[in-house]
Amino acid sequence: MNFMNNKIFSGFWNFYQRHFWELSKPCEEALRARLKPGMFTLETGSGRSTYIFEAAGCRHIALEHKAKHSAALPSVVIAPLVGDPPWYDWRPSHFFDLIFIDGPATGRDAVLKVLPQCMKPSTTVIIDDTDRRADRALCERIAREYDLVATTHGHWDLGFIHRVFTVLEPKRP
Ligand SMILES: C[S@@+](CC[C@H](N)C(=O)[O-])C[C@H]1O[C@@H](n2cnc3c(N)ncnc32)[C@H](O)[C@@H]1O
Repeated sequence: MNFMNNKIFSGFWNFYQRHFWELSKPCEEALRARLKPGMFTLETGSGRSTYIFEAAGCRHIALEHKAKHSAALPSVVIAPLVGDPPWYDWRPSHFFDLIFIDGPATGRDAVLKVLPQCMKPSTTVIIDDTDRRADRALCERIAREYDLVATTHGHWDLGFIHRVFTVLEPKRP
């Protein structure tokens, strides 16, 4: 009986862990609605989201610092975290059409250091977990510095966790 309980508990715990580390369904839909084959895309923090970019035919780079958590996909670049605040040991070599900020788990503020080499006037940025104060502040800062319009989406996941992401897009003429 104990064994059964443990199995049920560990099954639930694995599902729970995986579910909340991954992007939410509405965030996935927001990505799918914008991705097109051949787009240059970047994400920080690989996972289920990486499959979405690859399935859409994007020329994708998924930065990940933990091989253990990375999806085994060609777009994943394993790069250790360096510096303070820590950021992936990686340099952009071109601009991106869409950037999805969802890692690293140590904090995302250092993305500001590489954004000048990643952003062009038409770049869309999607930031997950903007219910968190630090990520909301990061979002506001990127919107201000790159003159983007922010749209925040929230929903109740599994009925009890409020999950929020924000889409930053160029102003329409
Ligand atoms: C929010 S996750 C990225 C999720 C991914 N973008 C997705 O939507 O599937 C951010 C980082 O957390 C780490 N991570 C992923 N799953 C984890 C887990 N179960 N426990 C601890 N860290 C995890 C990975 O290093 C990942 O890059």
